[in-house]
Amino acid sequence: MRGKTILITGATNGIGLEASVELARRGARMFLVGRDPGRTAAAVEQVKARSGSGEVSSFLCDFSSQASIRALAGEVLAKLDRLDVLINNAGGVNKKRELTVDGIEKTFAVNHLGYFLLTNLLLDLLKRSAPARIVTVASIGHRRGTLDFDDLGFERGGYWIMKAYTRSKLANVLFANELARRLAGTGVTSNSLHPGSVATNIWSGAPTWAKPVIQLLWRPFFLTAEQGGAFIVQLAADPKLEGVTGKYFETGKLVAPAPLAQDEALAKKLWDVSAAMTGLTPAIAAQR
Ligand SMILES: NC(=O)c1ccc[n+]([C@@H]2O[C@H](COP(=O)([O-])OP(=O)(O)OC[C@H]3O[C@@H](n4cnc5c(N)ncnc54)[C@H](OP(=O)(O)O)[C@@H]3O)[C@@H](O)[C@H]2O)c1
Repeated sequence: MRGKTILITGATNGIGLEASVELARRGARMFLVGRDPGRTAAAVEQVKARSGSGEVSSFLCDFSSQASIRALAGEVLAKLDRLDVLINNAGGVNKKRELTVDGIEKTFAVNHLGYFLLTNLLLDLLKRSAPARIVTVASIGHRRGTLDFDDLGFERGGYWIMKAYTRSKLANVLFANELARRLAGTGVTSNSLHPGSVATNIWSGAPTWAKPVIQLLWRPFFLTAEQGGAFIVQLAADPKLEGVTGKYFETGKLVAPAPLAQDEALAKKLWDVSAAMTGLTPAIAAQR
């Protein structure tokens, strides 16, 4: 990883922070993306201290705002002359249905459209840096996900935290696979992963009634953030995965994703809908 330039979102906590430490240790030039200036500065200091690397800096972005994502992409393109690995990792759950400043259900906006928009805006830089990798952090929860294009934001269908989350994570796998097809022959790969059930802040977003259940029944079996982060590092850095694209990994193992996630027509439709929702012209969004 020495000399490689890596941009990772959701780097202020959990598996994103731990992956950043390990990739910095391996000599990558790290750019951490966070939404809160204080937490982001603290993450940079932590990654520097634990990795012993001085090559760690940051950008700010709130992925619930498309203007903020566009500003981030603009800053990245102005500052970086190359990008070897983009890691889409920022995400979370929302107990109640919320709309973003762009009027989109927040879980879908942050967890899926955030990855979609940032990646498309950085695609030319990635292609110029080939061989390059795009790593998308999805979840095994995608297996329970559904997509209803007539009610993407649960306006009519009734909102439930896990329905929104699994939908966004199904979108992650469909996006990563469709991106791989669109990037065929460019030297840029696109893969997605489930990091395991990991003890991170994400569970603090669970409903109050569910927290004791998680704490008592699940938590003893959770991986540490370091163990979960290692699966991001694998997709970003493992030389054995050079050229591997359009694949999905669960806790380090290559497996088939859910049948719905393998549906190419669904992936194409999701791509077109996502491009419309983010105002991407076909000239910018990778074409197929
Ligand atoms: N933990 C698990 O068991 C598990 C399982 C499967 C998949 N995943 C996936 O792993 C990824 C990382 O989650 P984690 O478990 O490490 O959770 P985490 O500790 O809560 O970390 C989430 C990261 O995303 C950032 N983030 C959330 N919303 C954001 C927004 N609107 N704009 C910018 N940044 C935002 C958070 O920033 P702040 O520090 O500012 O909050 C934090 O850095 C997620 O995509 C999640 O779906 C996790």
